Amino acid sequence: ARGVLRDKFRNKFLVGAAVTPAQVAEGQTEADILKDQFNSITAENVMKPGALAPTEGSYTFEAADRLLTFAQANTIALRGHALLWHRATPDYFFQGTQDEVKARLEKYVTDVVTHFKGKVYAWDVVNEVISDDDGATAPYRNSNWYQAAGGADYIDWAFEAARKADPDALLFINDYNTELTGKRARLLQVVKDMQDRGIPIDGIGHQMHIQAATPVADVLAAIDDVDNQFMGIINHVTELDISIYNDPASCFKNQTNCAADYGNNIPQTAVDDQAQKYRDLYNGFEARPSVTSVTTWGVSDAQSWLNGYPVNRTNAPLLYNRDRAAKKAFRAIVEPD
Ligand code: XIL
Repeated sequence: ARGVLRDKFRNKFLVGAAVTPAQVAEGQTEADILKDQFNSITAENVMKPGALAPTEGSYTFEAADRLLTFAQANTIALRGHALLWHRATPDYFFQGTQDEVKARLEKYVTDVVTHFKGKVYAWDVVNEVISDDDGATAPYRNSNWYQAAGGADYIDWAFEAARKADPDALLFINDYNTELTGKRARLLQVVKDMQDRGIPIDGIGHQMHIQAATPVADVLAAIDDVDNQFMGIINHVTELDISIYNDPASCFKNQTNCAADYGNNIPQTAVDDQAQKYRDLYNGFEARPSVTSVTTWGVSDAQSWLNGYPVNRTNAPLLYNRDRAAKKAFRAIVEPD
């Protein structure tokens, strides 16, 4: 139908949003928006290890299962996020010998993927495992996982266990800043190495938390680089949002020199530029067949994580405003070309 996101991109890519269980509850405006416009959801938080296995060996699937129930009732696909991450993960995962860490990791991945077998179409198997350091010798993040496992092997363990538990789920490596050439080169090096060694990986998740001034061409170059360098690796845009600000690196690092809060006075130029950027991005994704899922990191600006990251500040990075009304950015996307 005219003016419906998921219809506009049917047979191109799934149109997703990150959600919480509260947002998909009966009668919530977000739930109605999702039913009307979207055909994929991702758990913003409730499928992370800290939420699913707060204590070793016992699982708390209730919140995640509410998302699953909503998805199934409305013919919406569920994207799994994230099996392994250096954040939102209880300390017990990193304790003991390498063998113990490996056995625990494999059990966790197996149990969780089995719980959602046939119900989650794609998993972010590992999240943010690539180093941010352009001078680094190893491409890997020196994380709690990396240290507990004694190197990068934990990535392989996770993909192997996930494939075994659900051979039909698509398996992803997910990361941010893939629009930047240095980070992207390290990521593609890691994926190439995995492919060469026969590790079961299907795709690259590009988070795409981008800024007002991020060039659309940089985002699309990330997709094109994957297409040019790999056969059969697909691309998901997993966490798209477009901040109305431009912050220097120091803002992300130690919250200094962040752009000043617009408060309730967001300039019209920022609104217009964002709409144009969303339009150009979705057109670009549509033109690239390797992109099979595009998810925004939330539904409405009222609930975006960017209101609190990197600093507390009013942000408006999504397709619906604080009143849950469709923004100019939404119209820019669904409008006929
Ligand atoms: C964020 C959530 O949006 C917040 O609610 C939470 O407090 C922290 O995590 N990269 C990711 C996501 O892979 O899981 C993060 O989600 C945002 C950055």
